[in-house]
Amino acid sequence: MSKPTVIVTVRLPEAVKAYAETLFDVRYDTTDVLRHGPADVVDARGILTSSIERYDAGKIASLPDCVQVISTFSAGFEHIDIPAAQARGIAVCNTPDVLSISTAEIGMQLILMAARRAGEGERLLRAGLWKGWQPDLLIGLQLHGKRLGIFGMGSIGRHLARMARGFGMEIHYRNRSRLGPSLEHGAIWHDNDDSFLAASEVISLNAPGGGGTRHWLNAARIAKLPAGVIVVNTARGSLIDDAALIAALKSRHVRYAGLDVFDGEPDFNRFYLDLDNAVLLPHMGSSTVEAREAMGRLAVDGIAAVLEGKRPGNLVG
Ligand code: DGY
Repeated sequence: MSKPTVIVTVRLPEAVKAYAETLFDVRYDTTDVLRHGPADVVDARGILTSSIERYDAGKIASLPDCVQVISTFSAGFEHIDIPAAQARGIAVCNTPDVLSISTAEIGMQLILMAARRAGEGERLLRAGLWKGWQPDLLIGLQLHGKRLGIFGMGSIGRHLARMARGFGMEIHYRNRSRLGPSLEHGAIWHDNDDSFLAASEVISLNAPGGGGTRHWLNAARIAKLPAGVIVVNTARGSLIDDAALIAALKSRHVRYAGLDVFDGEPDFNRFYLDLDNAVLLPHMGSSTVEAREAMGRLAVDGIAAVLEGKRPGNLVG
């Protein structure tokens, strides 16, 4: 029996490619400039894509009827117009949970880098400017005993909370609803922004992107954070109003920012580059062998399930 054709527009780990090829007749289109159009998709029943490729209503409308499923190699799915896909009967799958530990680790890393000024230290040493131990060199903040506010207490937020508890931090969180005690582990839930912001000596953004959270961290909310706060974002750049955060970094109301994601990335607000009190990473949250292989397998399994007429566990919407 011939295997169903699936177009893959993302560079997958080798093990995942081999796995996908056991199930599908795979057609790769993994140029960084993604350019496949209806002509390429003509006989494909599935598309495996990623968060750098937008599937807006127009692109979804242009897909041929044979396409039954779009699976994204990402937890986030704000780049896909879900109602448009549903209207065409196209299932959408994503890769939740399997990247949570890796992404939480990058969050913890950014908190540590920001609190302990690791980026500045590395730049100083590489520039040949280190003159030996000095009592006032790159004085940072100890995390133990500090309050960490987590905006979005999904799987990534909860793993970050677990890690931060190990550093002796007190966990506060803002979430649509309060978690049960078995997930909360003593974290303090806030039912309003004001008390949450006021409590957050370090704030980590872990909520999904999209219209509902666009520029959530704006000038008004930044003003409600304690002076000297550390701001970390490993979720989506769109959650932050960059101009407001840059102004607060310049005034030192925000002591430090640790950012792994940027609004409009790979473009980003170049004023961040002028700031010593910002540590910047190129969207590396899930970039571990473990997470990427698990993401790939989950994305492939989602396609396979849909093509077998089953409802995949990672179906979106
Ligand atoms: C995700 O999985 O959403 C990552 O941020 C990559 O897009």
